[in-house]
Amino acid sequence: MAATCPDDPCSFSNPHEAAVTSVHLRLTVDFEARRLRGAAELRVERRAPAAAVLLLDTRGLEVTGVCRLEDGAPLQWKLESEHEHTAYGTPLRVTLPPEDGQPLTVAVEYSTRPESTALAWLEPEQTAGRRRPYVYSHCEAIHCRSMAPLQDTPAVKTPYTAELTVPAELTALMSGLREGREEADGAARCRFRQPVPVPAYLIALAVGDLESRPLGPRCSVWSEPGVVDRAAHEFVDTEKMLEAAEAFCGPYIWGVYDLLVLPPSFPFGGTENPCLTFITPTVIAGDRSLVDVVAHEISHSWTGNLVTNRSWEHFWLNEGFTMFLERKILSRLHGEPARHFSAAGGWKSLRETIRTRGADDPLTCLSPKLADVDPDDAFSTVPYEKGHAFLWYLEQLAGGPTVFDPFLRAYVEKFRLKSIDSADFRKFLEEYFAPTPGLFDKVDWEAWLHTPGMPPVEPQFDSQLAGVCSDLSARWLAWNTDELCPFSADDLTPLTSGQVIELLAQLLEAPPLPVKKLEKMQELYDLDARANSEIRFRWLRLGLAARWERQLQPSLEFVTAQGRMKFVRPIYRDLYAWEEARPKAIATFERNKPNMMHVAIYTVGKDLHLSE
Ligand code: BES
Ligand code: ZN
Repeated sequence: MAATCPDDPCSFSNPHEAAVTSVHLRLTVDFEARRLRGAAELRVERRAPAAAVLLLDTRGLEVTGVCRLEDGAPLQWKLESEHEHTAYGTPLRVTLPPEDGQPLTVAVEYSTRPESTALAWLEPEQTAGRRRPYVYSHCEAIHCRSMAPLQDTPAVKTPYTAELTVPAELTALMSGLREGREEADGAARCRFRQPVPVPAYLIALAVGDLESRPLGPRCSVWSEPGVVDRAAHEFVDTEKMLEAAEAFCGPYIWGVYDLLVLPPSFPFGGTENPCLTFITPTVIAGDRSLVDVVAHEISHSWTGNLVTNRSWEHFWLNEGFTMFLERKILSRLHGEPARHFSAAGGWKSLRETIRTRGADDPLTCLSPKLADVDPDDAFSTVPYEKGHAFLWYLEQLAGGPTVFDPFLRAYVEKFRLKSIDSADFRKFLEEYFAPTPGLFDKVDWEAWLHTPGMPPVEPQFDSQLAGVCSDLSARWLAWNTDELCPFSADDLTPLTSGQVIELLAQLLEAPPLPVKKLEKMQELYDLDARANSEIRFRWLRLGLAARWERQLQPSLEFVTAQGRMKFVRPIYRDLYAWEEARPKAIATFERNKPNMMHVAIYTVGKDLHLSE
């Protein structure tokens, strides 16, 4: 069954007829049953005068009743049940009462199921402290519908309020401002408010044994008690990054910017939940070398959360712009060469993605067609790095940062609080630069937006910081192991963590190194001892590519100890490609499933060819 939303092929909702304009969630968090139970109260406005139906997105929700909140009058509703197997879920059809000129709030009583794809329920043993249960949500792109019945399309944005009832010994957080907490009878009622209109995918919650440390006037970091001090040390520069982002995009309108460090199973690097970025503990390296993820999520406060893609076909407007802004922050804090260095690394990962997906895969288009496609299947670095490369190219054509930075700011100003598509972007770009005719005449929009494979133009990056990495990697590749070893333990001493990562990334692009070279590298550089997750990830992959027995067990442990898909998926794919490792990989995956979030099980299952 095809989705019906005219703006969004992945949603059943009908906002052009009847639109949800504000949301109130009233939910009890039941750890025993692994359910959220309660109600979604939705203020509805008719967009078409005769609108008689409200369509909401749901996936696996148990709906028990629908009424008009104002008078308690029951409303007719119907939940189709035959489409459970699709990621799009099931439309909930509510028959609206006749228009009476009065406000209309539709209250849906429901509960989630334990299998909700948006929620990760953790037993105490699966947390750092091992004492209390934990639950967290992840809704992007279309999982909100398995947490609450809403118009789950980024074309619809609404403010929201929420009331979560949780066990009194736990702390509840959401992607909004904390409004209060009242305790009674062993339970705590926690209230939240997000006054800025947001798409459903930005509704987020986490409940667990949580503590916070202040980082600055607007920023705190939250995590389990055993992690919070290390986290506060790592993210000390958060406020500075926020200020750098404001210098490009204008004031931060969300009030609070907090970080929540999730348990290791969190499948992403970070997610941009408003007021409360979620972040993986794998960025805590001890030396603040991986905090780009924070710059990225901060950037979403403008690109993504303020200016939002209208559908997931225009996801690059969220992620490409955010990569661009992330690297602008980097440039401001660490200089333009740092921006080039990061951008060059991004281009390399784009190349890897296009190589693994295939240059003719339609999902490698910057703006792909998604009708009947699960956005989790479409997800890749393409919208990030092809999107970034496109903006980089446009910036060059426009005349560089002095011209393009003001454009970026004007773009945010123009589209703030709106949901837009690629055509809106193009139109505004051309209008903005209309005083300089011909600037973008040679831009091949069709190739950039709608053609699979690598972009039509390769950007030029300055190699000031990557130079040492290229020199050293070239020497390792050229070394004839029958001859004297020309390397020394000091080779890496002058390199930053970022440069070690780049070195390994370059070696990974080459044909597999012989085990003999890797053994020598280990002997001289002791890369096994590096705890930095980005280094470890690439070092293990070099070993797997070489079929180095010694790295097999550590790789299986690495994909078990944390669940970040950026790391877990490529390693599982590498293991799959190595025939001898394949059964062990599959057994490890099966054993570890209870510790993984839905989206990770779903995608790794496909990577291991266990499902279609
Ligand atoms: N919004 C994304 C994460 C996301 C996108 C989750 C689509 C599910 C569906 C987030 O901002 C992100 O891009 N995270 C990256 C961080 C990185 C690029 C610095 C990640 O998780 O790796
Ligand atoms: Zn992002």
